[in-house]
Amino acid sequence: MSEKEEKGGKAYQLGDDGGLYDALCTYAKGDSYPYHMPGHKRNGRASVMAPYYEIDITEIDGFDNLHQSEGILRDAQERANRLYGAEETFYLVNGSTCGVLAAVMSAAGRGEELLVARNCHKSVYHGAVLQGLQVHYCYPSILPEYGIYDGIAAAEIKRLLEKYPASKAVVLTSPTYEGIISDIKAIAAVVHERNKILIVDEAHGAHLGLEEHMPPGAVTEGADLVIHSLHKTLPSMTQTALLHVQGRRVDRSRLRRYLRILQTSSPSYVMMASMDCCIRYVEKHRAEGFEFLRRQHALFCEKTEKCTYITVGKMEDLQRNASIKDAGMAGSSQAYHLAAWDIGKLVIFVQNCSWNGRRLYDIMREEYHLQMEMAAGNYVVAIMTIMDSEEGWQRLADALVQIDGRIEEEEQKRGIRQSTEEGSRPGVCRGRKSIKRNSTENDNVRQTIEAGDIDKSKARQVIGESSTEESKVVHIIEAGDIDKSKARQVIGESSTEESKVVQTIEASDIDKSKARQTIADDSIDKDENRERQVQPQIGMTAEEAFFSAREEVPLEEASGRITADFINLYPPGIPLLVPGEIINDSVIGHIRESIRIGLQVQGVSAEGKVSVCTVKCCN
Ligand SMILES: Cc1ncc(COP(=O)(O)O)c(C=O)c1O
Repeated sequence: MSEKEEKGGKAYQLGDDGGLYDALCTYAKGDSYPYHMPGHKRNGRASVMAPYYEIDITEIDGFDNLHQSEGILRDAQERANRLYGAEETFYLVNGSTCGVLAAVMSAAGRGEELLVARNCHKSVYHGAVLQGLQVHYCYPSILPEYGIYDGIAAAEIKRLLEKYPASKAVVLTSPTYEGIISDIKAIAAVVHERNKILIVDEAHGAHLGLEEHMPPGAVTEGADLVIHSLHKTLPSMTQTALLHVQGRRVDRSRLRRYLRILQTSSPSYVMMASMDCCIRYVEKHRAEGFEFLRRQHALFCEKTEKCTYITVGKMEDLQRNASIKDAGMAGSSQAYHLAAWDIGKLVIFVQNCSWNGRRLYDIMREEYHLQMEMAAGNYVVAIMTIMDSEEGWQRLADALVQIDGRIEEEEQKRGIRQSTEEGSRPGVCRGRKSIKRNSTENDNVRQTIEAGDIDKSKARQVIGESSTEESKVVHIIEAGDIDKSKARQVIGESSTEESKVVQTIEASDIDKSKARQTIADDSIDKDENRERQVQPQIGMTAEEAFFSAREEVPLEEASGRITADFINLYPPGIPLLVPGEIINDSVIGHIRESIRIGLQVQGVSAEGKVSVCTVKCCN
């Protein structure tokens, strides 16, 4: 870039350090004439993006080749693996998507078995389809306070590996889109006990472990393959990502082969320079960067603490609840499985009011010009990084406090008494404050039951007064010592699908063994019960379904049919249905509701149709 020095300023400072960007700028300054790709010939005339055109080259002499790096690109990748403490690191210019695909496909060969956390990104499933893998699922439980996925339990992975010993590898996402971090060290221990490969999709956690006060990243916690989207949480261009490899379990030549297939043969030097700048920037500025992030997060939490209807998800609240419940966090017989909650993810819930996540998202965007990362049923997610400004943090906190006041006014106008509304709206999780408020209702139930004579009809009456089936179930379970057959009867009477019941129980903060007994199935073991009820049944493998003859049918008529395609909520890109799964009414309801509240559902056409296999299920 000939006028680099003159342009000066912030945007150009990142590359002033002898890295790939500097080399590209120096080259651009020279008189070399390009008789090669790209067709713009480093001539910015065609675009206002001239500075990028000037450094956008192909694999010319002196600039190495990503698919066989021996020079400047090898050095850049080594710099990245030093930062993360990895043995080997690959640059990815096709996002984490490509890293996940390569990891999955190199870890398990054609038709082999794979254990997958069911809340994985669609790229994991795509890898499984392309490789014709037989997939077994680990279903994470739900954090009761928030209604989002908890971390993955090491004990559950251990159990599933015992059940599916042929699984070649375990794949999980940590942190989740909502910032929930699993105990990777404990999981790696159980996976390695059986000499399997642990793949951690850490697309959302490229910033983990970069500073002593941040939670450790999966590379140092013992995962064999770790994928980072640099672009998600660090200052790097969209599509840039890293794949790290550790240890001897992974066949690295096979991994390279897949990377050669899956990565473009024309990797962008602009993107790669952006990755190198990012790594160099983080090396230099991580101490003050993460200190700033932590300080701003604390201030933000303090400011928004006063909100009534808006709650920001926090680890401390879970810890507080855990101590109330006398339960540990990760480790022993805990109620929760997460190891940490990433402070870079602000998960902002609206609770106990008529608002949903989509409305909050829209108001923030339209009226406050605050563009969130995503909206879900009852929350929005904001991503915060070391690049955020104080103003960015303040604007968000101020807006939330204002919006909270507005919700309050609206709720008062609607004349809704808080005490009857709180915690009873379907799909709204019970947050920290609502848990406090809900305790009155729960106490009523408990008192009724504990009244000595255990007047069950009275208890059921109280239960019956609650306005949703979900809370009905919780109350029955809360009641604990109520006649179990009666409880089951009530559960059976409710139209809530069983999966919801199981989730509710998993989510409930009460003694789980008691709760489980309450719904224990007569003939099947509890784990089977959980797997069979929470998720749709599998009619054929994902590969068979994906490549089979298909037809389009209205969603409403699809119950009982085998889905031929993925149906994803996007973001976060977690499949609601994977090819081969049998569509049921509960999933249809979930899809319909997601569309109704304005979430983006991929795999349902504008006419409301879905792809199903022409072959019908036999059961
Ligand atoms: C958990 C997870 N993994 C992988 C990906 C894919 O990342 P990329 O967009 O970098 O390809 C995403 C994208 O949102 C994700 O959320």
